[in-house]
Amino acid sequence: MPVKILMVCLGNICRSPLAEGILASKLPKGKFLVDSAGTGSWHIGRAPDNRSIATAKKNGLNISNQKGRQFKRSDFDTFDYIFVMDNNNYSDVLDLATNELQKNKVQLILNEIFPDENVDVPDPYYGLANGFDMVYQMLDEACEILAQRLIAKHS
Ligand code: 4NP
Repeated sequence: MPVKILMVCLGNICRSPLAEGILASKLPKGKFLVDSAGTGSWHIGRAPDNRSIATAKKNGLNISNQKGRQFKRSDFDTFDYIFVMDNNNYSDVLDLATNELQKNKVQLILNEIFPDENVDVPDPYYGLANGFDMVYQMLDEACEILAQRLIAKHS
């Protein structure tokens, strides 16, 4: 059984698709499975935002085949780790948890870089184009640390 990691944001079209693509690229296939979801339902079935696709492509990653989906309660049981992009995602996901085991699976992704500081990955949806580059750099740094930690823990 692979170790399963879920990346969560609001729309599942900007930040979490990037996080999914970046983390998956840093982990050996087969042993780990990375997916993403949104707390909102607007973009179910859609490809990631074109700006996320372009930013990933610039960095050598193809995320264009991902499809948006909404976070659901069963994800707490399906996944071993759940990483949220910001504090709103954190409270929205925690509201759906029914026990401590489920709550303890949920972590803010930037706490990988800044432990216990609870820093948000800013939502780039309504912002300037370089917001996507900033988000990419933050997620790349966090996922590098996370990947090393996961590989060490599960080898
Ligand atoms: P994401 O960005 O949570 O990083 O995917 C958003 C995308 C769409 C919306 C909000 C945030 N929206 O309101 O449609």
